Amino acid sequence: MLVEKNVPLQSSNSFGIVAKALSLIRIGSEADIAAVLQDPALHAVPKFVLGGGSNIVLTGDVKPLVLKVEIMGTRLVSETTKAWVVEAGAGENWHELVTWTLQNGYPGLENLALIPGTVGASPVQNIGAYGVELQDRFDSLDAVDLTTGRNFTLNAAQCAFGYRDSVFKHASTPASFGSPGFGLADKALITRVRFSLPKLWKPVLGYADIEKKRVASSIHEPDALQIYEWICEIRRAKLPDPKLIGNAGSFFKNPTVSLEQCADIIQREPKIVHYRLADGSVKLAAGWLIDACGWRGKSIGNAGVYDKQALVLVNRGGTSSPVTGGEVMTLAKAIQTSVYELFGILLQPEPVVV
Ligand code: EPU
Repeated sequence: MLVEKNVPLQSSNSFGIVAKALSLIRIGSEADIAAVLQDPALHAVPKFVLGGGSNIVLTGDVKPLVLKVEIMGTRLVSETTKAWVVEAGAGENWHELVTWTLQNGYPGLENLALIPGTVGASPVQNIGAYGVELQDRFDSLDAVDLTTGRNFTLNAAQCAFGYRDSVFKHASTPASFGSPGFGLADKALITRVRFSLPKLWKPVLGYADIEKKRVASSIHEPDALQIYEWICEIRRAKLPDPKLIGNAGSFFKNPTVSLEQCADIIQREPKIVHYRLADGSVKLAAGWLIDACGWRGKSIGNAGVYDKQALVLVNRGGTSSPVTGGEVMTLAKAIQTSVYELFGILLQPEPVVV
């Protein structure tokens, strides 16, 4: 087992922020995790699990031991009359998995094409786009408890998925496995994820951007590959490619308000973009709120608000004078304050601040 010291993380986080991991171990298999946990010097030290780094803001060097997940492999594990179950190692690139499933004739993940990050990070925030969330295609996952070394498997209910939320984002209450207070934040390392891709495939359309593509192309019954191509085009047109412009995707969650609160805001801002949810509450487009406060295209230092989508904060300094985590958080706070002052809504950041 190799413990690397002072490892630069600039290319391991999608913002391109400069920071170091004081100690880092690459995890290529379950055996590598066991070796770390059985090592008397490493067993009890605080640990930080790093996947693709596409949903983090680094505000300094990372002091906990970084476990860089590089567990690879993608395979069909089972097939029933109803579904294909595909498994991928946590270190696999998410978009490459989506592409692989489609190339092999297993549709279902096409709406989630081009989301940056790794397979292991995908359940943590229950990634979602264009009407599909990971939980809609999820079968189960394997993980290791970093305190006990125990391997365990969780189904969808045990992952407690919500909008950009799961059991992996909540702190644990001891000895309460399975009870409502159960959380696995900083406690588990996801090793493999399985997806159930139904054979009775139906396209998920209806999202405005997809409908525009459908009308423009006159293809009324697109197949999964066609949708995949449309999603890639839509994302490339409005979201920055992290390889060219550092970012962490949507920086804030879309807030949910009550019908009464929404009616009050609509009275003041009739154009506000909002969607009714099944439970009667209303989801507001955070990008629209930020845009309405005049932030689109603005910057603080090298932290900027993307000019084509105000929900995305970007690194305007490139690799030569990259944004700092402090600048990103200063900009995020300023945006939160503006939106709160104008609309009375406190936006919640999506990325994990390290
Ligand atoms: N809008 C503006 N101005 C802006 C940005 C957006 O007016 O600067 C308006 C748009 O015109 C649109 C509405 O806000 O009417 C919603 O925008 P968009 O369709 O781009 O979707 P979103 O709600 O901003 C969410 C996800 C994205 C996902 C898209 C498509 C969250 C936090 N974000 O964005 O996910 O790709 O829907 O499904 O839910 C991510 O999480 O990193 C991510 C990119």
